[in-house]
This record gives sequence, C-alpha cells and structure tokens, in this order.
Amino acid sequence: DVIHLEDYRVPDFLIEHVELHVDLGDGGTRVGSRLTLRRNGEHGRPLVLHGEGLELLSIALDGKSLAAGRYRLDDETLTVEGLGAEAVLETECRIDPDGNTALEGLYRSNGTFCTQCEAEGFRKITWYLDRPDVMARFRTTIVGDRTTQPVMLSNGNPVASGTTGDNRHWVTWEDPFPKPSYLFALVAGDLAVVEDSFTTRSGREVALRIYVEHGNEDRCGHAMTALKHAMAWDERVYGREYDLDIFMIVAVSDFNMGAMENKGLNVFNAKYILAKPETATDVDFDGIESVVAHEYFHNWTGNRVTCRDWFQLTLKEGLTVFRDQQFSADMNSAAVKRIADVQRLRAAQFPEDGGPLAHPIQPQSYIEINNFYTATVYEKGAEVIRMIHRLLGTDGFRKGSDLYFERHDGQAVTTEDFVAAMEDANDADLGQFRRWYVQAGTPRLICSGDYDAADGSYLLTVRQETPATPGQPEKAPLHMPFAVGLIGRDGADLPLRLAGENSAEAGTRVLQLREAESRFRFVDIPERPVASLLRGFSAPVRLEFAQPAEDLAFRMAHDSDDFNRWEAAQELQNKVLLGLVADRRAGRPLVLPDMLAEALGTALDDDGADPSLLALMLTLPGEVMLAQHMEVIDVEAIHDVREFAVKALAERLRDRLLARYRACHAAARPGFDGASMAARHLQNACLAYLSQLDDIGRETALAQYRERRTMTETMAALARIAASDWPERDEALADFHAAWRNDPLVIDKWFTVQATAARADTLEHVLALAGHEDFTLRNPNRVRALIGAFASANPTAFHRADGAGYDFVAERILALDASNPQVAARLIAPFGQWRRYDKARQERMLNQLKRIVSQPGLSKDVREVASKSLN
Ligand code: ARG
Ligand code: ZN
Repeated sequence: DVIHLEDYRVPDFLIEHVELHVDLGDGGTRVGSRLTLRRNGEHGRPLVLHGEGLELLSIALDGKSLAAGRYRLDDETLTVEGLGAEAVLETECRIDPDGNTALEGLYRSNGTFCTQCEAEGFRKITWYLDRPDVMARFRTTIVGDRTTQPVMLSNGNPVASGTTGDNRHWVTWEDPFPKPSYLFALVAGDLAVVEDSFTTRSGREVALRIYVEHGNEDRCGHAMTALKHAMAWDERVYGREYDLDIFMIVAVSDFNMGAMENKGLNVFNAKYILAKPETATDVDFDGIESVVAHEYFHNWTGNRVTCRDWFQLTLKEGLTVFRDQQFSADMNSAAVKRIADVQRLRAAQFPEDGGPLAHPIQPQSYIEINNFYTATVYEKGAEVIRMIHRLLGTDGFRKGSDLYFERHDGQAVTTEDFVAAMEDANDADLGQFRRWYVQAGTPRLICSGDYDAADGSYLLTVRQETPATPGQPEKAPLHMPFAVGLIGRDGADLPLRLAGENSAEAGTRVLQLREAESRFRFVDIPERPVASLLRGFSAPVRLEFAQPAEDLAFRMAHDSDDFNRWEAAQELQNKVLLGLVADRRAGRPLVLPDMLAEALGTALDDDGADPSLLALMLTLPGEVMLAQHMEVIDVEAIHDVREFAVKALAERLRDRLLARYRACHAAARPGFDGASMAARHLQNACLAYLSQLDDIGRETALAQYRERRTMTETMAALARIAASDWPERDEALADFHAAWRNDPLVIDKWFTVQATAARADTLEHVLALAGHEDFTLRNPNRVRALIGAFASANPTAFHRADGAGYDFVAERILALDASNPQVAARLIAPFGQWRRYDKARQERMLNQLKRIVSQPGLSKDVREVASKSLN
C-alpha cells in the first residue's frame, strides 16, 4: 500500500476530547477510551478508526453497548456506521506491553512502562484517528502498582490521584493543549527524579524534572543545564516561551530513536541524557545539549504548530534541527558546529540523495512513514531552512517565524504555510525556492574564476546541475544563496563590487543563484585574488572548483571564514589522497607531497586559532568521505593510502605533534568547559598521528589509556589500542569491559571500538561479539553499537572481498526484523550504495538485498527499504 501526498483528504471526523483509562498490569494492560467525536462536514461515511494488535473487550456508542453487527474489526481498523453529527464512542481493549519488542506504542523498558507514538504508534494503544490533523484534548488516568510504579506520568498537569486496594494507586493527568495522538505519552515505573526550575520571561515558574533509573541521578546535570539554556535561548532568539507549569524528561534504556518531543513529557534514549566526564565523551556531551534543545524547541515547532500529514515532516524536523544547530552554535564554537553539521550531512545525506532511496525533503509517497525519518528530511531540511535564513537575514527570518506562529498556533499545517509566512512577512518571493521541497538530488555547482589583470576584474562563472534521481529524470535550476569572498595577497578579504554597482563591501558577499548558469564580474580587483566560495556552506551542494594546491594551503592559513579554512584543508587532503590512490592503483610508489605536511605544520603552529578547529583541519578525511569522490570505490586502496599518509605525516611532523599534544594535555581539565573540550579535541587529533610512530606510538596511547582521566581521552586511546597489534591490546579491552560491565552506555562504546577497528580480523571479532553475553538484539543502542557501526563505519571490514561482512549484517537484519522492524530497516542503508562498488561486490551486495526481500513474513519497514534499494 503506497500512500500518496496528492491523496490527502481532510478527516471525516474530528475528536474533541479523549479520556483514557490505562490500567497497567503484569499480565497485560487494559486501555479504556472515551472519544468525543464530531462529524467534519456533511457526509454519511462511517467512522474508521486505526487500531493494531488490540484485543477488544467492549464497545459502546453514545452510552449503549454495540452489538457485533454494528461495527467491523480488521487488522488495522475499527469501523462504526451510523454516527450522528456528534457522538461518544467508548472502547476497552487489552494490550501486551511486555511482548512489545518493536518499541512502538506502549512497551516496558527495563521495568519502566513508556510510550513511543510518533508517527503511528498510538494505534497500538487504542483505536483512534491516528493522524496529526486530528487534534484533541487528552485526560489520562493511569492505574498501577504502588511498589513497581510509584511514578506515573502523562502529558500536561496532574489533576487528581488516589489509591485503591491491592497496593494500587491512580493518577489523572490533563493536557490543556489540543494535540495530535503522536504527541501522547505515558510513563510508569520506579524512577528517581532530579528537579530544577525555570522562570519564563513573563514570570511563569516551570518545574523541570528529569526522571532516570535509580543510581543515575548524578548524570543529569548536563541535560538540565542544556534544558535551561534552551528555554532562555528560545525566548531570546525566537520570542517563544514555555506554556505549561511542568516540563518533564524521562530517560529510558530501550529506544528506537534519539528522543521524542511529547507535550510536556519528552521521552529520551538514555544516551542523550546521562553523562558525567568519567562515562561520557565530549561528543556525547554535545549530543545531549543539542538533542535536549531539539526536543524542547519542538514545543513550538512541532507541537503548538504541528504537521497536517506526514508528508509535512520536514516542516517540524528541518526547522527544529535548524533551530538546535543555531542554539549549539551560540553555546559553543559556531564554526566547529557548522563543520560537524556539514560532515554529518555529507556522510549520511549525500549518499542517500545519490542512491536508490533519494527523495525530496517533502517526499511524495511512502509505504512505511518510519522509513522517512531520514537525513534528507532532517538534515537537508535544516539546510533548506538555513538558506531561507540567509536569503532573508536574521531579522527577516524572525519576522517570518513570528508571523508563522501568529497565523498557525494551534493548527496542523503544511510546509507551504511556512514558506508563505516567510514570504508575506518580508514581501519576498520564494517561488523558485520552493523547488527545494520537491526536487531530490544534491546539486553540483561547477565554478570557474578568471582574473583579467588588464582591467582588474574577476569573472566568476557558476553552473548548477542536479543529477537525475529515481523518478525524477529532469531537474530545474534552484534558487540558493552563494556566499563568496575574494582574498588578497596579504590574506585579507578584498572589498567586493560587482560591475554596475556604486560601492564595495569588504568581506563575505551573499550572491543569489537562480539560473542554470550565472556570471558575476567583480571590478577594482588590484591583484589576482584567491577565491573562497560557498563560505559557511551556504547551500547543500557539491562545489566543484579547481583550485591549485597552493591556493588551498593559502586559504587554510588565511581564509576569514573558519568553515572554509577547514574546507580548504579537506580539499587539499582530498586532492593529495586521491592522487595517492591513483598512484597505488597504477603501481607507483607512494610519496607524500611536502606541501601537505607544510600546510598541516602551519596549522599545528597556529596558536591563535580555536584548537578544536585545528583538530578538524588536521584530521584527514575519513575513508567513507574519500570514497564519495571515486567513480568506483576502491576500498583497499583508500584504506592503505590513508594509513600511509597518517604515518608519513606523523613522521614528518613528529616534534610539533608531540609539543602540541603535551600542551593540550596540560591545558585540559576534566570538565565540560569549552577550552578543555577544545584542548582534548586537538590532543586526540595529535594522538591519532603519534600512535602510528614505531618508537613512541604505543607508549603514548597506553599512557593516555591508563591515565583514565576522562572518557574522551580513554576512548581515543582505546580506539588506537583496539586497532593495533600491540601485546597490551586484549588486556586493555578486557580491563575496560571489567571496569564498566554494569554501565550499558559505556559498554556500547566497547562494542563500537572493536566493530570499527581497522584490522584484518575485525569481522571474526565482531562475530564473536555478536555471541557475547552482553550482546542482545533487543536493545537498539547495542545493535547500533555493534552492527550499525560495523556496517557504516568500517568499510574495509564490511566490504571484505569475500562478502562475509555483507552476510553477517544481512543475517542480523533478518533476525532483528522479527522483533524490531524500525531498527532493522535502518541497517539496510549501506547495502543501498551497491552501485558505487566493483562488479564482484555489487553482485554480493545485491544478493544480500534479494535474500532479505525474499524472506517470508518480512515487515513493511524492511521490505520497503530493501526492495527500493534493489533499483
Ligand atoms: N520527533 C522525534 C525527533 O526528531 C523523532 C521521532 C522518530 N520516530 C520515528 N518513528 N521514526 O525529535
Ligand atoms: Zn525532531
């Protein structure tokens, strides 16, 4: 069954009020529901409610029990005929949260009942119009055991509570804001709470509560701080205040995704809440800050203004990702954050956009909506919002968002409503810009620059071309901001004046591209400039601009745009490494060009720059990134060449690396201040080189590991050890496991560090780990830590020539599909890239996809992704 955007129809009925009565038990849970319904328009159609896996216990319409002939039940719906313009439908059903391994609907995680309803999980709790354009007020009563469920939570405010016999108690929650069912949440268990408060700009005192398993209370501080920062930031930057008296977060161990923005009751994967320096890395800390903010920001972009249907998903996700990116940029280094966001886009979204599953940020059809929570909808969606922000400017964007909230508060709307508000508030024309919503594929910008010394002009020519994607053979030119600068010989940006203009502005200039080809003639350019194009990555495109290596090295040292300093380093490194790949394939000896060592040496000596930026500049593009630049990916050549380059650079830069390593180690304190995090980042970037040295590599890595100062340092060292042949390897891995065996989030890291180790025998290790007593397919984090990491971050092992890596992953996908289709479907993506490999690998990858598709009883989730991947 394919769902199409063009088939959208308004709902036949609306639900004004929902009363839920959830009686939690060990032998199943009873869910009573009372829906106050209203017919939407004049029609005689029956009421068709969604419902899956529910055992019907009773049903009554307007107070009268319905005889068997008055309703119809099938696997997905409950149909009731003959409703009046207003009606009350009461149902009671039994569900089995303990048997719910799909982690969608109501399930039990480590003893705690919790829910995940987005997108269509509410129908696994009770019969309902489970679509986001049906918004109702919810009143929820939970009944549970006083010993095992002392805490019982739902959306909104608690309004009544009491006890019954049998050591049971109940509580009623009422949410004053009408909401779609996907934002419903219920949590019940024996949880500890960490409390704080926040006073909004208009004086509302909000109780902030983070619920965690007992013993984790000391790991909530960072999440709580992030939450308070996010609340203040949304007031300051978007004028948005929180609207209830309580804001709750619950951390659970088993969660399919990162987190969920249920109204007033966010449910989180514990990974994005729990952290202290001994257990979590700096990357984890950053992730917590951004996910906590993301879910909080959804309160306005998602909850107060929600989506009409699931084709509008990017309306809330693209916008909210953009907002969390802006927030993290404000809290930390903006350039470092931008680089991380672009790295993520390139690693996850570009392959999607160039593969068989390419879709626009607003897909036009789907089989299983859970498959469309993609890097395209989220990350490219955020880039599209960022471009609107660039085109309209900060103030214009704020005017547009104010109008959007004013017009649509309390409504379920479309991406068109958002774009229209941006246009109307600014008197702007985003007509052509709208193509970004419907056109898939990563545009290429093919640029050339010509300096004319005779008349002192620089002509910049930009051609745009979007490759065909499945179902979209023809592409139209897109409207996008193109930020550029021209750098003079002294390293400063030249003033920029286009022919025909009266005055010049120094610094970055935002040009607008609309045509298939655009030309810009800058005048009064006194010397041949070095062009810095697509500054700040102003559009989600692939830039093709043949710039000589000397210009790239010059920009690494002088570009005023920090993002582009890093980008110049990447481009230089790509150029050198891909040149070496060609040498290796041709059987020529590998020689590291001096200029790369010199450029990196200059960066190492830059004491003025953010150490985190330098760490990023010093880190060679990963194998997965390098592969994107090859026509046919040569897995082994890329790997060998990168290893060669790291070792050669380590030898060349040894003293400077060591000096910087020691200085950073001395500067870093084991806390989460920006300076310490940046120092650790550079320290670990140096370690990645130093550990390759025959004389001091091993002792340096082992010393850092044994120091056990922060998890960031421990893991960086353990990664080097795990990939090595040093005699201490097995002992270190055993020791780490013994030290952290009771800490699942840390044990996940132990699995990942082994799954991603670049060794010939990694697959054998991974097979053994899949049989380890700590491995389970039931925990999504554990699955991602071992199988996900192996398939997506260890190219030489996954793409082993004998196909054993493919076989292992496909087998686990099939095993997992039986219990958790959503997580299983996400493991398929690496197979979808089969076209990019040599014939032998193509065939092996395709065979695994065929094997998956032919499995009887396959879920919709896995079937959709695997069969589309075959195309
Ligand atoms: N809305 C959540 C977030 O991005 C993610 C929910 C994902 N759900 C899913 N079924 N894929 O914050
Ligand atoms: Zn989101």
